[in-house]
Amino acid sequence: MSSSVLPLNSTYINVPNFTHTTQPISQRAFKTRTNQTKGFRVVACNATPNDNKRLILPEPQKLVLPNVDRRNLLMGLSGLYTAANLSSLPEAVADPIRTPDDFRSECKGEVTSGLKNKDGKYARSRACCPPNLEGGIPADYKLPTESTVRLRWPAHKGTPEQVQKYRLAIQAMRSLPDDDPRSFINQAKIHCAYCHGAYHQPDKTKDIQIHNSWLFYPFHRWYLYFYERILGCLIMDPTFALPYWNWDDPDGMQIPEMFIPETIYCNPNPLQVEVHREASHLPSEKEPKIVDLTWSPVNRAEQGLPYEKQKACNLETVYRDMVRNGHDTPSFFGGKYVVGSDEISIRDKSVGSVESGSHTAVHLWVGDSKQPNNEDMGRFYSAGYDPLFYCHHANVDRMWKLWKDLDLPKHVDPTDPDWLNASYVFYDEKKNPVRVYNRDSVSLKPLGYNYIEEYPIQDLPWRYSRPTQRDKSEQDDSKKDNALPMMNSPMILNRTLKVRVRRNATKNLNETLLISGIKFDSSKFVKFDVFVNDKLKNGVEPTTSDPEYAGGFAQIPHGDANKMSMSSGARFGLKELLEDTNTENEEYVTVKLVPKAGCEDLTIGNISIINPEP
Ligand code: C2O
Repeated sequence: MSSSVLPLNSTYINVPNFTHTTQPISQRAFKTRTNQTKGFRVVACNATPNDNKRLILPEPQKLVLPNVDRRNLLMGLSGLYTAANLSSLPEAVADPIRTPDDFRSECKGEVTSGLKNKDGKYARSRACCPPNLEGGIPADYKLPTESTVRLRWPAHKGTPEQVQKYRLAIQAMRSLPDDDPRSFINQAKIHCAYCHGAYHQPDKTKDIQIHNSWLFYPFHRWYLYFYERILGCLIMDPTFALPYWNWDDPDGMQIPEMFIPETIYCNPNPLQVEVHREASHLPSEKEPKIVDLTWSPVNRAEQGLPYEKQKACNLETVYRDMVRNGHDTPSFFGGKYVVGSDEISIRDKSVGSVESGSHTAVHLWVGDSKQPNNEDMGRFYSAGYDPLFYCHHANVDRMWKLWKDLDLPKHVDPTDPDWLNASYVFYDEKKNPVRVYNRDSVSLKPLGYNYIEEYPIQDLPWRYSRPTQRDKSEQDDSKKDNALPMMNSPMILNRTLKVRVRRNATKNLNETLLISGIKFDSSKFVKFDVFVNDKLKNGVEPTTSDPEYAGGFAQIPHGDANKMSMSSGARFGLKELLEDTNTENEEYVTVKLVPKAGCEDLTIGNISIINPEP
């Protein structure tokens, strides 16, 4: 896939060189507070000074729409199903998730708990409904016809102009009155509403939840889409684009500089003021603080790899999320979720690879351990109160785009009509309520934005970060684990669980390990790690950088106090893992689940291997 590469001094974008000799405003601001503890050091470690660094602007895009007949979309039946055997039909006629038309009057949410200010008032709460403006039912959104493209930029490479514009826009948003649906707080509440059951499903028996399923990417894409347009509108700049936190690039793994100083020009920094973040993870003059993409906020002692190792480990995590575990549509997007989908019983309810992996780790790594619930980023209800949340999610959104650009087989958007026709309601930049559909979110071109890239897709730093193949001499061939039990009933993960699972495929298929019916208390952070075919000699334990590591299952807590039972599943791609552990020809795989946090009452329903569809 080719991209047009523009030189650094292009008139389109002006990229400061890496050492910031152009002195961005944030750095000037920082100079006023060098003796404070949160001083900022520009990333210097291991950065190759590269003054000729080029950034890549996206080529005019192909419109990549799923191969679905429009009429069938309208009928709620895809070409797939009409052509297929009729026994597939019951799935096709399920109803897609849809925010109610009466999203104002039907919205639920009371201030019962949350984070209080010093004056005792709730600064963040679970009352997440939008302001109840006058108006009819939301109209279907019409995509803009303007020809400008908003180019989202890597946050660690922002020019002083980009940073200043962004801060101005956030400041303008913070200045809007509380009854304006575009205000900073009302934007934050959108996230809370869609994960705390503010809206019921069309059958009114259950609430809408946009995490842990195939709604994750499209919902957040639309959310950022309007957020970006609102910011642009407030500063009257139709080209305004969000920064993205480039945590998949070693140079971008710290919290971006512009978020750090508390003041700029003696004014509060709108990207930092009244935000809760983990102070020990802010970059400091003494040491760089790069994110840990497998982070869990427990066992702090065993966390924190040496700098170089952490970078490599992060790249492996992104590779795992994007390639090894994101190897097909349900594994990357998460499982099917339609009206009536019960959190407990739906057959393929599972969380997508990036969502459960790097996405969740970033949330928890940024959330403040001094707050009662790791606010802001560490909980869903409060995450939207940190501007860094949107910067993080811009990168998550970029991952969706890159996943398709990788040009690998099975890296295609869902074509199920229940996915395509799922819809949400947002207030647009003019305060009109509009309904948007997943089907209109799949391609960036009609949405009028794109991402500026530093590397062509095949040169992305994580593109080939596959773990090194296990040396056979380190393995014990006689360790066949024949004595391990098969899984025949749900098990509690209050200690390490080891089972074997029979493969029903011959080699060379990309099988998926499916851990299903994971039930847990969603008010707390839960995490477990999954290792497959650990045949290491002498009791040596594989690490998360080793080929035996399939990945983790991690959940950002939902509640802010009350215990809620939740269920999910996780998928892991086996093809490369079996190759890299020299076990492609085995009849069974051995699976080891290692509880890391909150697993005392977590149960595993089943572990199975599913073969890819032809
Ligand atoms: Cu809606 Cu990162 O979560």
